[in-house]
Amino acid sequence: MRTRVGGEEFTEEAAQLISKGEIVAFPTETVYGLGASAYDERAVAKIFEAKGRPQDNPLIVHIADTDMLDKVAAEVPEGARKLFEKFSPGPLTVILKKAPEIPFSVTANLNTVGIRIPSHPMARALIKAAGVGIAAPSANTSKRISPTTAAHVLEDMNGKIPLILDGGECAVGIESTIVDMTKDKPIILRPGAITAEMLAEVLGEVKTFSGEVKVAEAPGMKYTHYAPTVPCYLAATAEAASRFVSENAEAVVIARDGFLEKVSAKNKVSLGNTAESMEAKIYSAMRGAEKIYCAIVAELPSDKGVEASVKNRLMKSSGGKILY
Ligand code: TXA
Ligand code: MG
Repeated sequence: MRTRVGGEEFTEEAAQLISKGEIVAFPTETVYGLGASAYDERAVAKIFEAKGRPQDNPLIVHIADTDMLDKVAAEVPEGARKLFEKFSPGPLTVILKKAPEIPFSVTANLNTVGIRIPSHPMARALIKAAGVGIAAPSANTSKRISPTTAAHVLEDMNGKIPLILDGGECAVGIESTIVDMTKDKPIILRPGAITAEMLAEVLGEVKTFSGEVKVAEAPGMKYTHYAPTVPCYLAATAEAASRFVSENAEAVVIARDGFLEKVSAKNKVSLGNTAESMEAKIYSAMRGAEKIYCAIVAELPSDKGVEASVKNRLMKSSGGKILY
């Protein structure tokens, strides 16, 4: 199959492909998604096939607005409604009891479903044109780094899917925050740009899931994720990064400018100056670096706000290897 890449003018064609049971990649503000009609089991199976994704890892259903909620969720509790009002469209996924029409192949046999209203205009236009909820994981090969450009998607999906909608670089850069609203208390299953503090302002108390994943609590969390093809380490200090690169000349240091200034290394990649720029650039930096360098040393983010969400991903990329 030849994979075509095109802009906005391909939205209508992408929607038709989805109506015909095909899968297409599309931009969202977080990362690119690989979408199929959420109501078409055969199309959903193609997503798992193209990604090499384990069958027990459920998909998020993307909708254009809250009017579509009834066709995805069995019920929408007050707290969930408030979350959609405050943070949607945007980088938040809410877990609710699934509507009967959503097949179990989307939810990996769970009675719950992840629901997200993305803000990227091309994602919204695609969902509206297709007229259905779109089930979509990130558009990377399973376990790889999520794609934040159409070129990244092509690296992983060339020849496997008919079309990639190109909507430029993803502004947020890491996957959505996932909050489970089906339990006694809201639980954050995956941290993201919408932080625990922001959720707590709307919901009061919010728990963060931190236990070992045994059951299907947050199934994706039990798999290695976000892994570059070369070894990856986190540096707690600029000195630790300098020491590593002095012994490994072909390694690269990926960090924000304040950190990079203090590192003596010949290979450096900047993540800008802020937590948000770090979040936006980290995946692209890792995908670029793995092609050139023999190892990646990334700045260890703090445990505060958005940095904590980036740290969550980098701990997985590095297997928790921290240089002190
Ligand atoms: O930002 C995002 O969320 C991107 C874009 C494309 O929207 N999507 C994304 O999908 O990151 P994916 O499949 O790579 O990650 C979805 C995560 C997985 O860890 C999965 O286990 C979890 O969401 N998930 C989905 N449905 C769930 C459910 N019913 N209960 C618990 N976890 C769920
Ligand atoms: Mg993913």
